[in-house]
Amino acid sequence: MPINLPANSKMLNQDFIFGVATAAFQIEGAAQSDNRLPSIWDTFCATPGKVKGMDNGDIACDHYHLWEQDIQLIKQLEVDAYRLSIAWPRVMDKEGKANQAGLDFYRRLLKKLKDEGLTVFVTLYHWDLPQHLEDKGGWLNRETAYQFTKYADLVTKELGEWVDSWATFNEPFCAAILGYELGIHAPGLNKPEYGRQAAHHILLAHGLALPIIRKNAPKSQVGIVLNMNRSYAASEKTEDQFACLVRETLDNQFFIEPLMKGQYPQLLKTVAPQYLPTVLPGDMDIISQPIDFLGMNFYTCNHNAFDADNLFKNVKNHRSVEYTDIGWEIAPHAFAELLVNLHKQYTLPPIYITENGAACADQLIDGDVNDEQRIRYLEGHLNAVHQAIENGVDIRGYFAWSLMDNFEWAEGYSKRFGLTYVDYQTQKRTIKRSGYEYRDFLNSRKG
Ligand code: FCB
Repeated sequence: MPINLPANSKMLNQDFIFGVATAAFQIEGAAQSDNRLPSIWDTFCATPGKVKGMDNGDIACDHYHLWEQDIQLIKQLEVDAYRLSIAWPRVMDKEGKANQAGLDFYRRLLKKLKDEGLTVFVTLYHWDLPQHLEDKGGWLNRETAYQFTKYADLVTKELGEWVDSWATFNEPFCAAILGYELGIHAPGLNKPEYGRQAAHHILLAHGLALPIIRKNAPKSQVGIVLNMNRSYAASEKTEDQFACLVRETLDNQFFIEPLMKGQYPQLLKTVAPQYLPTVLPGDMDIISQPIDFLGMNFYTCNHNAFDADNLFKNVKNHRSVEYTDIGWEIAPHAFAELLVNLHKQYTLPPIYITENGAACADQLIDGDVNDEQRIRYLEGHLNAVHQAIENGVDIRGYFAWSLMDNFEWAEGYSKRFGLTYVDYQTQKRTIKRSGYEYRDFLNSRKG
């Protein structure tokens, strides 16, 4: 079952880039090698009841040692680009000085990626805050935003020459809200005001880092990556419509509006003021400086009914729909709608789809993983991107999540998102049928 796009799709032009994505904590392992400091995810994993099976990132995909072979894997998929993240605890010591051993790892990796002709997208922060900074309050402490600028300065100075595109943060929603408001991710705190204050400091850190990155890496583009689900109301009832609006505001608008318009959603003032962070004079100007691109991660949609205590509650789609192995509804139409709606609401910079993919209950049988659902998922979502482009959204690239199965945060190793299967006992990688279909699709484009 091949992946197809309409023959006239702009995504088939040479300048639209296709890639695969990963993140440091999810694949690297080598948690104690070369003076790497502990991160909040090491601590979270070691806390009983937080991560499924008490899995941790100590070994993960052992990419820290197998990186050369993994670059060959990327080459085998014949993609144009690779998106990875840098682990802050690997490259900086507690005093803020460079850890050359950690930087050397990324130097070798990035240089080789460029030698292989790949376009390189790097995220500075994909959730692995050094634990010593969490001990001082983490993202609840405004000072962490200034610490981030030192880290961004170091990394973009040291590694800038091999990077085409820098993203300051991956998914502030998850880092702040799952981490500090809902307690599902590290550091596992849960108060509404915590999540929003953490989010504000993350957005501030993004804005403070922008001019530094531009100065150190004038030839690269700089942006940020947001995750968004499309929100639907559970019914036509006014109260459910309202619930949906609140959900969409808290999850999506809360992050994009400050970046694009320099303000938090006004609706919150009246309906949920507890979700408004403390903002100091000048912060919003720092946050809303222009960016070269917006990264968008999309996986699913949600359905919302009114709830007297929390304003909204998550309900299941009443229609019979298909879900992936992580319980997320497959909704490519929602992806197209979301992108087009954002395009109507804001003057957006160019967009890259920096993550999109499916967790499937993959089985390796005689060297073959027949992940038919993932292939359909990819085809559906690639066509949704095509639809969005046809409707005027400026989208320049697409990254499949993920290059290979890896540590799926609170789900540990139980959920597989890879185009490549990883046997965690042997560290053997096996390209799944989805990986081959993605490759063949990319090749048909070149042909
Ligand atoms: C996103 C994360 C990424 C991965 C996918 C499934 O929220 O950015 O690291 O875990 O979800």
